[in-house]
Amino acid sequence: MGQEQSVIDDDTPPKSLADRSLAAVADYIKSGKARRIVVMTGAGISTAAGIPDFRSPETGLYANLAALDLPEPEAVFDLHFFKQNPKPFYVLAKDLYPGNFYPTVSHVFISMLAEKGLLCQLYTQNIDCLERAAGIPSELIVEAHGSFAGQRCIECKTAYPENLMREHVARAEVPRCIRYPECSGLVKPDIVFFHEALPSLFYERMDLTISADLALVMGTSLQVHPFAGLPNMVPDRAPRVLFNMERVGTLGSQADDVLVLGDCDTGVRKLADELGWRDELEEKWRALVGHKEAKRQLQGMKKRIEGIQDEVSRLADEVEEVLRLGHDGSADEANSVIQPPSRDPEKEKSPEDGQEDRQEARTGEAEEKDQAET
Ligand code: OAD
Repeated sequence: MGQEQSVIDDDTPPKSLADRSLAAVADYIKSGKARRIVVMTGAGISTAAGIPDFRSPETGLYANLAALDLPEPEAVFDLHFFKQNPKPFYVLAKDLYPGNFYPTVSHVFISMLAEKGLLCQLYTQNIDCLERAAGIPSELIVEAHGSFAGQRCIECKTAYPENLMREHVARAEVPRCIRYPECSGLVKPDIVFFHEALPSLFYERMDLTISADLALVMGTSLQVHPFAGLPNMVPDRAPRVLFNMERVGTLGSQADDVLVLGDCDTGVRKLADELGWRDELEEKWRALVGHKEAKRQLQGMKKRIEGIQDEVSRLADEVEEVLRLGHDGSADEANSVIQPPSRDPEKEKSPEDGQEDRQEARTGEAEEKDQAET
């Protein structure tokens, strides 16, 4: 862990930190210079809890769905596809639904920042509600891609009761509007699918990053805009720390960027050590998740990855089965013609442009793919 992939030249001195290390970040916090910390998170902070991320090559959900007869793996979270065939999403929802997982050390560290009055805002792309479960006050959380906390009809927007939703999800069944037969719209959790607008709260709170004095970016590939643009809004003088398996986005390009590459719980524990918060962190986490779960999360990374691999390939098998049924005509009425999700390059803008749709980042590769499709 450390600076091995930093694109900043070793000869370029940091501006706000003594050096580009976790010890210097801890000193910066302890000296009172970090009173407005913003945290930006993605699926990587929940993998230790047993929830697969999306884009990791072996264990990611999309990698494992790639072999199936979907227009593309992301289609499971695409509104156009969902309207044609909601069943694959509900197969996944059964396993991803909140209540089956416990917060990780990384979640609890963020809740400690809140308790100490240092957390300005947490922006999460995760839909697992583990931030809430870790005790982070809801007013400090922006769930940029929504969550499973509510659900409604996609046609008339009528809210759908949580108990009924839970029952449907448990059976991997597709719920329909409670106003049936007046409305027979599909019901969807308040998760932001591709081609849907982000919650207005994201745009209202986005500017808090401009006044941040420290940013922690954790467990995200920064592939999905507009969220991916958030770290770039943090002012130059504010250190940005990346806790991730790999270098992502522009992290590592500024004088006060610190790269902590590897498992984020391990990185967070190191920062907690430097801050003198380690005992408190472990105590809070264990009290929250219990001994058995703590032991499970602490088991070797290799074993954990194997567990996620099994889980993800089982999920992929279930989705495949649903797709197969759709093709031989024995699936429910909603399984009809599958259209590839359309991608509109016109809508690809940064958060500064006030973009409202979630889109994949425009990498050269994505553009090539689009050209091939048209
Ligand atoms: P990704 O799967 O794209 O990226 C997860 C990142 O976390 C990768 O860079 C991994 O290397 C890293 N990672 C995985 N486990 C880690 C660990 N234990 N410690 C440190 N890093 C780890 O997930 P997101 O960036 O969250 O939409 O994806 C963004 C959005 O794309 C999601 O919100 C999702 C998806 O479409 C929906 O939920 C509907």
